[in-house]
Amino acid sequence: MLNQEDTQAKRDGGLATKSGSVRALAATVAFLLLTTLLLLFTSHSLAQKPGTRRPGASRASQAKAIDYSKFSHATTKHQAACSTCHKLPSRNWQKVRDYPDVIDYPGHDACVSCHRPQFFRSAKPIICAVCHAKTSPRDDVRFAFRNPARPRQFTIEFPHDKHQEVIARFAKSEPGPMFVHVSLRFSSRVTDDKMQTYNNCAICHATRSSVPTAPDGGWPDGFVPDVATFKSAPLSHAACFNCHWKSQQPVSDNCAGCHKLANPYLPVESPKRISLKFKHEGGGERKNHLAECTTCHINITKATSLRGLRPDVPITSCTECHNKEGLRQDVSKELAAIDKDRTFVCVYCHTSTVGKLDPPASHYLIAERPPVKRRDIK
Ligand code: HEC
Ligand code: HEC
Ligand code: HEC
Ligand code: HEC
Ligand code: HEC
Ligand code: HEC
Ligand code: HEC
Ligand code: HEC
Ligand code: HEC
Repeated sequence: MLNQEDTQAKRDGGLATKSGSVRALAATVAFLLLTTLLLLFTSHSLAQKPGTRRPGASRASQAKAIDYSKFSHATTKHQAACSTCHKLPSRNWQKVRDYPDVIDYPGHDACVSCHRPQFFRSAKPIICAVCHAKTSPRDDVRFAFRNPARPRQFTIEFPHDKHQEVIARFAKSEPGPMFVHVSLRFSSRVTDDKMQTYNNCAICHATRSSVPTAPDGGWPDGFVPDVATFKSAPLSHAACFNCHWKSQQPVSDNCAGCHKLANPYLPVESPKRISLKFKHEGGGERKNHLAECTTCHINITKATSLRGLRPDVPITSCTECHNKEGLRQDVSKELAAIDKDRTFVCVYCHTSTVGKLDPPASHYLIAERPPVKRRDIK
């Protein structure tokens, strides 16, 4: 079935023979004409009477409150079915991907029906900047899709519980590299003895190859975590479209089945952590932190959604090595330090943003002592 799509897309990817492209061409020509006229008109009237406002300016300033360079999915009129704007696969996907994907912005057709004024009635249509790097009728260069400079508007719906079984079965029945696109990212480690598929979580969550961008305001305490710290999450459809293509819901053009509108906008990706100092590939020279994922992430496989998941790693998964009689006492020691100085900041696992707060009951529980509030300490 992919092959059918392939050839269809190849045909669509040809020259402007489709009616849509013809219409687009006509629209561009009309736009060019209008722009030229308008340019002539404005420069003429401005030259004649400097300081006076041209007709329609008041309407323009009324509309000024709306920023037509930033598209929002939350605008009521933009909430039609996703496929009215996003075509799957988009034209020329082969240039970017080795599987059919949405790799480009919606075309002009998706907007012109409602935004004729913004497209055609100004000298430098600001609306072009939603998609184009330059606002020019002769330039069709577009920003990367998705635009990395813009905040994301959607979160991902991925019920881990529903996938446990399926993915295990899938991984077993497909001995070959089915997740080609994903597995490439960690294929170098597959040969490593210690590397297992770990409940198949690693199909989608490899160790990050670079430190993510710092959150707004920078890393707390100036503590820049190293590369061994974070696990990645899928960045593309390669992790999903193998199964979610034409028959398994949410199917590939049912964008909303996986992307949920996030309002207000999410900041550009940067993992939120409680224990920023925990490294997945850490734990001393012997890398003691390398273990079956679900020994620490005990809740994830029961998670129907990602909302409210944190913290999904309880501190009890650290106790065995970090807080045991005769062994290390990292939690107990820090709790004792608070007894002596109630402003003591815990920094072994946390940065000060978390370490200056009251230790939660879970911490006192593993230290086998009753909870205390900082303010109750003399
Ligand atoms: C009216 C047209 C329109 C509709 C309808 C629409 N989109 Fe979009 N979509 C756009 C445009 C334009 C962009 C580029 C926005 C940008 O780069 O700022 C975009 C970008 C995106 C992106 C990439 C940016 C991001 O926030 O991650 C995703 C994902 C997306 N749309 C998903 C959806 C989903 C899901 C739906 C349906 C619920 C949908 N879109 C409906 C026009 C539309
Ligand atoms: C069904 C009609 C409709 C379609 C289709 C549509 N828009 Fe809009 N758009 C609106 C309305 C209504 C507003 C609210 C402001 C206004 O009245 O102009 C708006 C507002 C905007 C804004 C201002 C910021 C915001 O999102 O509120 C931008 C930018 C924009 N549209 C771009 C686009 C682009 C690009 C497309 C095509 C991918 C598109 N629109 C498709 C009706 C539409
Ligand atoms: C919602 C995103 C979007 C907006 C807004 C937009 N464009 Fe485009 N533009 C595209 C895409 C996608 C193509 C490629 C169309 C294709 O290949 O089928 C394109 C193609 C073009 C081309 C090449 C010729 C053509 O029509 O295929 C020109 C020139 C162009 N755009 C200019 C503009 C100008 C000027 C504006 C503002 C008035 C504008 N575009 C607004 C997405 C957009
Ligand atoms: C088919 C792909 C896939 C598999 C397999 C998978 N996950 Fe996920 N996981 C995701 C996606 C998608 C997200 C959401 C990421 C986002 O919000 O951008 C996620 C989110 C998470 C998060 C939350 C991350 C955060 O920042 O909130 C954790 C923890 C997690 N997964 C652990 C696991 C564990 C443990 C396993 C194995 C039992 C597993 N995942 C298997 C796709 C997968
Ligand atoms: C020794 C315990 C432990 C093991 C084993 C473990 N994790 Fe984690 N994981 C954590 C902790 C702790 C966090 C951070 C939670 C927080 O601070 O909010 C985390 C966070 C994550 C996140 C969110 C992104 C990030 O790095 O902050 C993902 C995804 C994740 N783990 C996946 C995995 C996968 C996949 C495996 C198995 C290959 C795994 N984890 C094994 C303890 C563990
Ligand atoms: C190995 C095949 C496979 C992969 C890979 C896969 N899924 Fe699924 N997915 C399924 C199956 C099968 C179901 C139905 C499970 C059920 O209902 O018990 C499902 C269900 C879902 C549902 C719930 C639909 C509902 O009706 O509740 C969502 C959302 C979803 N998947 C998103 C994703 C996302 C996002 C990815 C990629 C990160 C992904 N899936 C990767 C096979 C897969
Ligand atoms: C089966 C689930 C699923 C469906 C259906 C789906 N997406 Fe996604 N999409 C994801 C996941 C998972 C990611 C990666 C995580 C992220 O970027 O938030 C993603 C990423 C993206 C990206 C960024 C990819 C990149 O290469 O930069 C865009 C753009 C996008 N989706 C748009 C869409 C549009 C438009 C549709 C509908 C035509 C759609 N998605 C359908 C799950 C899905
Ligand atoms: C199987 C044993 C084991 C488990 C379980 C374990 N750790 Fe560790 N961890 C270690 C060892 C060994 C070190 C290295 C100590 C040293 O050399 O000072 C370490 C070091 C650390 C460090 C210092 C930075 C580093 O990686 O070297 C932090 C922070 C940490 N662990 C947090 C955690 C947290 C949080 C958990 C629970 C989610 C956890 N650890 C679970 C064994 C473990
Ligand atoms: C061995 C690592 C470790 C040490 C040492 C440690 N914590 Fe934690 N802390 C965790 C883990 C893991 C969690 C998440 C699970 C939980 O809440 O029990 C957590 C959670 C927290 C939370 C809750 C944060 C939230 O957003 O839910 C606070 C507050 C906190 N710790 C404060 C402290 C203070 C204060 C100390 C010093 C006495 C301390 N921690 C010492 C590992 C540690």
